Amino acid sequence: MNIRCARPNDLMNMQHCNLLCLPENYQMKYYFYHGLSWPQLSYVAEDENGQIVGYVLAKMEEDSEDNPHGHITSLAVKRSHRRLGLAQKLMDQAANAMVETFKAKYVSLHVRKSNRAALHLYTNTLGFTISEIEPKYYADGEDAYAMKRDLTRTNAVDM
Ligand code: ACO
Repeated sequence: MNIRCARPNDLMNMQHCNLLCLPENYQMKYYFYHGLSWPQLSYVAEDENGQIVGYVLAKMEEDSEDNPHGHITSLAVKRSHRRLGLAQKLMDQAANAMVETFKAKYVSLHVRKSNRAALHLYTNTLGFTISEIEPKYYADGEDAYAMKRDLTRTNAVDM
């Protein structure tokens, strides 16, 4: 399994993986917006045949020059390749690139309150904490946890 920075010709396969794994889907132009604006921040996991089995789609928030911070727009790993540590690695690579390239102080994301697997990953493995609850954040009315991970401490991102 190989983790590498996403390239423009990966974006369609990332969208395909997203459609398989999550109800939150995006138009192709939103993937291009990420890839063209922050080409350092999104990563893919590929199998031995070069097939994309996971991705993280990430960006910087544009309203925060004095307190730069990144945001994870979407993360998914195909069912066949879960519990291998891929999501953890993808998230750490994105966070590391946010710090190195943009001096990010923290990274944020939203997650469904019912998403046990992702909540375990974020809280127990990656050190995110809940910053607020956003009621009815999702189109179907489910609440979101807004979460943050501090990136300022030494060794915050263990690679
Ligand atoms: N149940 C409990 N804990 C879990 C689970 C699970 N199903 N999956 C991961 N974890 C925790 C564990 O602590 C795990 O460590 P361990 O395997 O040593 O116990 C740790 O997270 C690391 O797990 P990874 O192997 O890195 O996670 P994986 O590659 O399987 O991907 C993910 C996790 C992305 C949540 C995957 O299950 C998935 O794609 N789910 C569907 C899509 C999704 O929910 N994406 C996140 C939405 S929020 C957003 O996009 C911002």
